[in-house]
Amino acid sequence: MSEILPRSGSTLQVVDTDIQVSDGVWSFGNGVADAFVAHVRKSVPLYDMGHFLAAELASCFVMPHGKGYELGVSTGELIRRLASHNARTASAQWVGVDCEQEMIEKASKDCSSCQNIELILGDIREFRFDSCDFVVDFLTTQFLDRRDREELYSRVYASLRPGGALFIYTKALQPNGFLQELAGLLYSRFKRYQGLNHEQISLKSESVYGVIKPVTERELKAMLKSAGFRQVSLVVKYLNFEGVLAVKR
Ligand SMILES: C[S@@+](CC[C@H](N)C(=O)[O-])C[C@H]1O[C@@H](n2cnc3c(N)ncnc32)[C@H](O)[C@@H]1O
Repeated sequence: MSEILPRSGSTLQVVDTDIQVSDGVWSFGNGVADAFVAHVRKSVPLYDMGHFLAAELASCFVMPHGKGYELGVSTGELIRRLASHNARTASAQWVGVDCEQEMIEKASKDCSSCQNIELILGDIREFRFDSCDFVVDFLTTQFLDRRDREELYSRVYASLRPGGALFIYTKALQPNGFLQELAGLLYSRFKRYQGLNHEQISLKSESVYGVIKPVTERELKAMLKSAGFRQVSLVVKYLNFEGVLAVKR
């Protein structure tokens, strides 16, 4: 009888054509940067529409010649859009922070034509923000422990001018078991539709288990309210992916 091995182990596992995880644990290093955007487009519903929405929101909250931040900028795909979306966002200064050197190096190359983007290698858990108008967290604070996440939202709140806003797009837990199971099933089908195979989907799910730390919409709203935000609304949702806008009033 063939031996049944645990899936997580020390071998490299392929979770997309050009992306491997070692030791069964997802990481943004180890050469992920070059294939990152192609992979995230296949694995995250509304990735491009979410960027469009982030840029539209930015143009409502960023003051002319104001300042905005992207937390977890990866290869700069979103910040390039933010920095050039329309006259108002293009007049602002944009700062992108990421803790992975390979991501910041690729972002620096890909954003080299945008004079209003600054990229910083750093940990958002310790980052000190200047006074600003708008902050985007697109799929990033979901990787933080709850206490770090709460503490970061408080620092973002303190840095925003009154009337400024934080937009979060994140993987979310559903409010009950029935919806969680349904969302999980349809999320797998979404990834199949995007061209990933069953093995890749399964290995990726296992590699991010415990690395992504999703919370429910209700928990996220409670965290934002305790950080000081009074106006907190769900503005977009596709199954287990949700976008929440928090405005400082
Ligand atoms: C899913 S990606 C973000 C995608 C990107 N915002 C976009 O829209 O294309 C998450 C990013 O957050 C970064 N990251 C994770 N934890 C971080 C931390 N504590 N400080 C700074 N960056 C972090 C990772 O290196 C990764 O590049």
